[in-house]
Amino acid sequence: MAAIAPSADRICEAVSRLGSETAFEVLARARALEAQGRTIVHMEIGEPDFDTPEHIKEAGVAAIRENYSHYTPSAGIAELRDVIAEYAARFRKMPGVFKRENIVVGPGAKPLIWNTLCAVLDPGDQLIYADPAYPAYASCATYLQAEVTPIPLIESKNFRLDLDELESKVSDRTKVLVINTPHNPTGGVLLRSDLERIAALAKRHDFLILSDEIYSRNFYQGEFLSISELPGMLERTVIVDGFSKAYAMTGWRLGYAIVPENLAPVVTLFNNNTFSCVATFVQMAGIAALKGPDEPVRRMNETFRERRDRLVNGLNRIPGISCKMPEGAFYAFPNVSEATRDDKRLARYMLEDAGVACLGGSSFGKAGEGYLRFSYATSIEQIDLALERIAEHLPRFK
Ligand SMILES: Cc1ncc(COP(=O)(O)O)c(C=O)c1O
Repeated sequence: MAAIAPSADRICEAVSRLGSETAFEVLARARALEAQGRTIVHMEIGEPDFDTPEHIKEAGVAAIRENYSHYTPSAGIAELRDVIAEYAARFRKMPGVFKRENIVVGPGAKPLIWNTLCAVLDPGDQLIYADPAYPAYASCATYLQAEVTPIPLIESKNFRLDLDELESKVSDRTKVLVINTPHNPTGGVLLRSDLERIAALAKRHDFLILSDEIYSRNFYQGEFLSISELPGMLERTVIVDGFSKAYAMTGWRLGYAIVPENLAPVVTLFNNNTFSCVATFVQMAGIAALKGPDEPVRRMNETFRERRDRLVNGLNRIPGISCKMPEGAFYAFPNVSEATRDDKRLARYMLEDAGVACLGGSSFGKAGEGYLRFSYATSIEQIDLALERIAEHLPRFK
């Protein structure tokens, strides 16, 4: 996370507590190199390279033509909230458990992470999260002056949480535990036994789970399990999900939180105070996404699986790299510590010298030191080109 230093001229002190997503910075540098005539393989940003499925685009265009161009309620259009409630409960094998009143719609999952944490964290409260992790959780919690406690993921356990360490770090100030399964940046997936132990802790110590399930459709082995499915967990879980990854809709900006009923009006109040509501025609496209055929989502996922296998098997053939097979999301998180622990410098070298844009693992937290993150949401041809370039350039890295 790159902190912005407050300066004497008008920028407030609180800004120094904000983090940021390195992926956007690397993307900007990669584009600048392309403008100079370089060819870059883009594996830095976490977005499907597919186009949004046709029926969803058509619904968005039709909604604009039909003048869905006015404000909506801050929690979202009633029909969209109903459709999300129905889909989300069915997908999680608990038909009927969610109601419109549980659903808060936002411009992507990210603002709902922010607004949910704003609704629950006071200064001094403790937020626990995985290390490495998507940077938004710690950025928001630190901004709110909560205490953040990272818990390392264990590579030998396919990047599952160290639950003994988690148990030892829970305190009477623990307000929120963030889990993210499948996980960005490692592709790790928590097992039922992990979730059961986490659920028992949450109940014993009375804390909330923020379960970031944005990659719940990008799952390669078995069936997705949400912690909310475990007994007694519905009322203490906020699920964050959205359309960006499953439906290739990153730029549309559409996500949602599934929130216990008492909390939903507070998260909505933060919506009201910030973006007011999501673009109306985008919400209409969201209805079409969830009501329409599911086949495009499954097809995209099958393609991700092929790319995952190609990338990970290829990385493991390169001396100095070892890479666990990710079980979800669309990221590989190879261990490069034999070559260097300075992953950020290696990522810079890969971009500048090899023309492969990727991220240093430590931009997701200290435990990411000595790893790189590659997004395999790109074609097999580009993956092959990246592998060729990495194999050629890594031995020259000093
Ligand atoms: C773990 C995780 N959560 C949430 C998001 C936010 O997604 P969006 O705001 O596009 O819905 C991302 C995006 O990369 C992510 O990786």
